[in-house]
Formats: sequence, C-alpha cells, structure tokens
Amino acid sequence: MRLVVTKMNLGLWAAAYVKEKINAFHPTTERPFVLGLPTGGTVVDFYANLRLFYKEKLLSFKHVVTFNMDEYAGLPEDHPQSYHSYMKRHLFQSVDILPENCHLLNAQAPDLAQECIRYENAIRQTGGITLFLGGVGKNGHIAFNEPGSTLDSRTRLVDLTPNTIQANSRFFFNDQNRVPTQALSVGIATILDAKELLFLATGTAKAAAVARLVRPGVTTDCPLTALKLHPHATLLADPAACSQLTGTWKEQLEVLMRKAPRAEHWTLEGITT
Ligand code: GLP
Repeated sequence: MRLVVTKMNLGLWAAAYVKEKINAFHPTTERPFVLGLPTGGTVVDFYANLRLFYKEKLLSFKHVVTFNMDEYAGLPEDHPQSYHSYMKRHLFQSVDILPENCHLLNAQAPDLAQECIRYENAIRQTGGITLFLGGVGKNGHIAFNEPGSTLDSRTRLVDLTPNTIQANSRFFFNDQNRVPTQALSVGIATILDAKELLFLATGTAKAAAVARLVRPGVTTDCPLTALKLHPHATLLADPAACSQLTGTWKEQLEVLMRKAPRAEHWTLEGITT
C-alpha cells in the first residue's frame, strides 16, 4: 500500500481523485461505478467538493451505485445523526444519483443478521465495489470494525468501544449517553474485497493509528493495518496525522518534503506487512 501525504485540503484531493476515477470508467446503467462510502467529520469536505463538481457539471452520479460502510443501530433513519441522514444532507439530495442506487444498511430491520446477509449479497450482485473510501477511527477502526475485529469479518452487528463512543459524542451534544452503543458495519473482509481502497486520516488524533500502520505487521489491535493486505490501497493523510511516524518512513517523508517543499503531495510507496 502507499501513504500519500498532502498539505492540501484532503477532501478536495479525494474528491478530485474520485471524479477522475468515475469519469475514466465511463459508467453506464449496465456497467455502473460502484462506490463504497464513509461518514464522519473527516469526509465532510470530500462531500462538499463532490457536490461542487456535480454543480459545475464535471461529474455525474447517474451511473454510480453507492454502498455505505455502516449505520448506527437504534437510531431511526430520520434522526439527524443517522448515517442515512448524513448521506442525504452531504450528498444524495444535491446530486443526480438515483435513489435505488443508494445502499445503506437498515439498522431498523427486524432481523439484523438477515439484513447483513442481504447487504453482502447486494454488493456481490453489483459485481463488487470498485473504489471504497473510508475514514479512520482514533483507535484505528475502519468502518465500525473496532480493535479485535478479525480479518475475515463480514457485515455484522458490532459493539462500539468506549473510545469510539467518546469520540463520536461530539455529534450528540457531547453526551456519551446519547451515542448508540451498537452499529451495523461492513467487515474487514468486505472492505478488502473492493478493487481499490482510499482511506483518509487528518489531525493528531489519528497519528497513533497512522504510526501503527507503517510499523511492520498486521494486527487486529489496529484494524487500519489490514489495508496493507490490499494490492491497491492508499491512505491519504495530512502532516498532523503523520506526526508520530518513526524510523525510516519518517526519514523518507522528511527527505521527500525537503526535496519538493511545494509539491501537491508526497508518496511513500511499498508499505507492506
Ligand atoms: C466513525 C465512522 C467511521 C469513521 C470514523 C472516523 O465512527 N463509523 O467510518 O471513519 O469513525 O470519524 P471522523 O472522521 O469523524 O473522525
């Protein structure tokens, strides 16, 4: 995998990347572009830039099919902090995507285990996810795959860790008691099945997880490290998220930044297990 570090707005970088990918794919009804999507604070700018590209007629979602990573259990879909509401607010209501092409987990389904199977099948039926975007939890979670999630995990009901509940309480009036304690989430294996991965990490809160990623090994203690098992994965990070890098990766990044201080981004290739 590679680590791309930029001082640019990460949302703009990622949105431009997605735009290029979709346009180069020339999607059609029969052969849509299947996009895996995250929620969270990190990707707010990403969605703002996608909306802008659509408004400027540089991008259409007419032949794009989306699958979201996760959804809180116990929140009605129309709750302002549900990921259904988030996606409507940040993307779906502002672009030409067809409602039947927007897939989210239904955490209100009477049989949640069945709902998870349905979701995995729906992804499979589209031919799989072309590009899966994601954020990173403070504790290194990807989607809601908390530390301890296995590499072969699939879409399932998960318990959120106290760390995640605390981190996400900022969206719930800083009241941890209002944060759902469970969620439906795609699994690590579901994410690794995608043809390409682009994950985003900003700020010092994510620095420990990013530092763990570049150290040798894949560990369920830090689910982000699973990205190293994917042949075509990128972590896009800002300098703050890279502030705890150590050893040769830290040195390599410093050399690259010194050589081309005005570069749009710096790339560390070949981060392996
Ligand atoms: C949330 C989401 C994740 C997201 C992560 C980071 O809990 N379920 O999919 O990537 O945590 O969120 P943020 O971008 O708000 O820091």
